[in-house]
Amino acid sequence: MTTHKSPLEQIRIFDTTLRDGEQSPGAAMTLDEKLAVADMLDALGVDIIEAGFPISSPGDFEAVSQVARRVKNSVVCGLARAGFKDIDRAGEALKGARQPRIHTFLSTSPVHMKHKLQMGPNAVLDAIGASVARARRYTDDVEWSAEDATRTERDFLCRCVELAIRSGATTINVPDTVGYATPQEFFDLITMLRNRVPNADTVVFSTHCHNDLGLAVANSLAGVLAGARQVECTINGIGERAGNAALEEIVMALKVRQDVMPFQTGIKTPLLAKASKLVSNVTGFVVQANKAIVGKNAFAHESGIHQDGMLKHVETYEIMRPEDVGVTGSSLVLGKLSGRHAFRDKLTALGYELPTADFEEAFSRFKALADKKKHIFDEDLIALVDDGMVRSHDSIFVKALKVATGLGVEPSAELTLVVDGEQRRTTAAGDGAVDAIFNAIGELYPHNASLAQFQIHAVTAGTDAQATVTVRLEEDGRTVTGRGADTDTLVAAAHAYVNALNKLLVKRQKQVPEALSPATTASA
Ligand code: KIV
Ligand code: ZN
Repeated sequence: MTTHKSPLEQIRIFDTTLRDGEQSPGAAMTLDEKLAVADMLDALGVDIIEAGFPISSPGDFEAVSQVARRVKNSVVCGLARAGFKDIDRAGEALKGARQPRIHTFLSTSPVHMKHKLQMGPNAVLDAIGASVARARRYTDDVEWSAEDATRTERDFLCRCVELAIRSGATTINVPDTVGYATPQEFFDLITMLRNRVPNADTVVFSTHCHNDLGLAVANSLAGVLAGARQVECTINGIGERAGNAALEEIVMALKVRQDVMPFQTGIKTPLLAKASKLVSNVTGFVVQANKAIVGKNAFAHESGIHQDGMLKHVETYEIMRPEDVGVTGSSLVLGKLSGRHAFRDKLTALGYELPTADFEEAFSRFKALADKKKHIFDEDLIALVDDGMVRSHDSIFVKALKVATGLGVEPSAELTLVVDGEQRRTTAAGDGAVDAIFNAIGELYPHNASLAQFQIHAVTAGTDAQATVTVRLEEDGRTVTGRGADTDTLVAAAHAYVNALNKLLVKRQKQVPEALSPATTASA
């Protein structure tokens, strides 16, 4: 289908799954999970990884520092408001990065300036100049964002962008923070900035579109057509409210429709399905079946007419091949007798490279699984490895569980938890087996969180299938989602609840500052 002959211009993919994505309610990730996602993004070929918001919590600071030190290819970016404390903290967190970027932002729309910042236009301009210059002390790679750009008065936006460029910004990001713009408006906005702002040709313009009206991907692509050369997006489109533009949709739209959008990205598209699964597993956000590119049904042809057409010629109903995005279908892979070698080969084919200790741990869990389940599929291995990653360094974990339940039996759970290295054991009753397990957890690790959601999914077909359970907990306005996988649904439920508690520990630390106030701008 590709007809364009001249060299394709490169679009930089800036992934903010670990920052904007993690801001969505319930999506908190532990440090290990963030590192696993960062490794995945690096392998995927993402140009810039926004690893977090270092000033928001010690946990975010640590995550940005560790991502900065381990990422090999991508630029690693930390977010900072316009205050010097924010910027210094981001600079410090990025110290170990091969290619560090500081991303600093300030609202520029009348409604944000008046009600959120309580700052006038001159104070905003002063803060932009000072913050960008401060960020340049740490790195030559500084991105500046005009928060709520799409609702900003045009002349003022031009003055802000001009000042940011003059102060040393190398990337200018134009967020549609509230997901309000339409594609034509967004195209016009980028075009206007590129035409009117002095020295606009010396910087890269970037899109950052939220999906409140379902237009995030369309708006981002309109921005690219208008000359933006960086797109900010997240895996599975996770993010604040309705989310951000979905990375996999942007990348595949650019790849499949090069005839009308003559651009390319550095993304290794066969890793997209795996990246999607990993982010779904660590956040507990199940991907909807009809989600473009990575949904379970994205390549399923159900109706007779479609199936008939596909059998005659795949292009009748298929605009891209499933394998282009890493969808391979269920294949029977390993069984009880498979050894280390076959297990390692299969993991490599699935894109996992585990350090020796993690490999050995995964192999022994694979053997345990093969004892319970005759046929092990790709999906089983992905669930098994991701589950290990989710729980590897949790400070609370399930050591043993015995459940009694049945018709005419009062359900009870005998549970052993390890909390910060200390073993605790109890037996609790409940309305049902799951209730008994959760009551036992509550006795061993008292907390005030309430259960907001409980979901079970089968990883494959068959009554011996592994179950993945997701548990959503709420505590004082904080929401976290935990996940567990096991052939025993009750064991998976216990793991999922405890995983959610571990995430609550992370989230309790985190206090994303509400807004930049005059007191925190510039030299404060
Ligand atoms: O949506 C937004 O405006 C943001 C900025 C911090 C870039 O996430
Ligand atoms: Zn955003």
